[in-house]
Amino acid sequence: MISATWWRWIVIVALLAGCDICMDLEALPSSNHSALAADRRDPLFPLPPVPKLDTEKVELGRKLFYDPILSGREMLSCSSCHDLKQGGTIPLRRTIGYDGREHEFNATSVYNVANNYRLGWRGKFTSLIDQNETILLERNLMANTWEALLTRLRANGLYASHFKKIYGGPPDRESLLDALVVFQQSLVTPNAPFDRFLLGDKTALTGEQERGFELFKSIGCVSCHQGSNIGGNMFQIFGVFADPSTKRESHQIGRFPRRPSPDAEEKQVFRVPSLRNVEVTAPYFHDGRAGTLEEAVAVMGESQLGRQLNESDITAIVSFLKSLTGEYNGERLKAPPLQDRR
Ligand code: HEC
Ligand code: HEC
Repeated sequence: MISATWWRWIVIVALLAGCDICMDLEALPSSNHSALAADRRDPLFPLPPVPKLDTEKVELGRKLFYDPILSGREMLSCSSCHDLKQGGTIPLRRTIGYDGREHEFNATSVYNVANNYRLGWRGKFTSLIDQNETILLERNLMANTWEALLTRLRANGLYASHFKKIYGGPPDRESLLDALVVFQQSLVTPNAPFDRFLLGDKTALTGEQERGFELFKSIGCVSCHQGSNIGGNMFQIFGVFADPSTKRESHQIGRFPRRPSPDAEEKQVFRVPSLRNVEVTAPYFHDGRAGTLEEAVAVMGESQLGRQLNESDITAIVSFLKSLTGEYNGERLKAPPLQDRR
């Protein structure tokens, strides 16, 4: 017989073992919890299905996402930096803002974004509403004000009637952000070969991809890139073993850039990015310093795991990462043409 005290210990240990993915589970809509609970022990699990959303809101949000009307001088739309035909980002190391200044950061993909626990490279936001509002108002992003933006939208007959029909009144802060956010919740990319594999189709991965997956787990990539987004749910130092700082001193722009600390490492903390669709979102890292996945994987081996990966292991891991490419509207995401990559 196992005593009650022992049972208690067994339950505590089991809970602790599953706990590194708790954050990701919390981030998911509650309807997904029970379906995923069975997979809790596995650090990687399939993408939850596209949620059921109000299609009218999705379409209004899509229209707004593509419309420069959202930006101060009507020059930029969300899609200028998050092109849904180019992996939900653009193939530029760092994007250029409103006043012509290069941003500190590479544009993250907006695909599967509702499934990230923290948003942005520094993980400053946990809510898409707050994050989107900041983008609309920030001087070097969309450079708008609520007053100017709402006046413009209300004067636009088409928007005025869409908002009236869906939200029962003229466009306001809440309804505009809601439409944008509901649209982003629809940006899910299911049916990646890796998801099919996790769901039981053992032929979905090539032999090379399976070897890459085994390496991804055995050498420890999975300790940081985990959950259904294969990342997006924790903060980590960039440079656990080897310092990857460039001349731009990346550690000045991490999560704690201004915190006075004698420990330089603390400043190089970034959100671990999701690796979903990473095949089509080059260049890589917060500042876009790596042009290819091979390069990014080699840097990860060295800086995060303290190991020099050989060419054959890098090839296998890259091949596995390519199995994370999913579909949007039934079409597999594609990498942008080479001439567009800068
Ligand atoms: C001028 C380029 C630019 C425009 C325009 C732009 N973004 Fe971004 N976006 C970025 C950059 C750069 C980041 C990464 C910023 C960071 O990490 O601090 C980002 C990050 C994001 C993220 C976070 C994704 C994640 O997983 O962390 C979301 C969501 C997002 N943008 C949505 C939008 C929406 C919605 C709009 C339109 C209202 C928009 N963006 C317009 C450049 C842009
Ligand atoms: C200790 C945590 C940790 C480990 C282990 C780790 N990573 Fe990362 N990974 C990160 C962080 C943090 C970043 C973001 C770095 C930055 O740009 O500031 C990242 C970024 C990446 C990127 C770039 C993604 C993008 O969109 O720019 C790839 C690809 C990647 N990791 C793959 C791997 C692979 C493959 C392994 C195993 C060889 C691995 N990582 C191991 C934490 C980790």
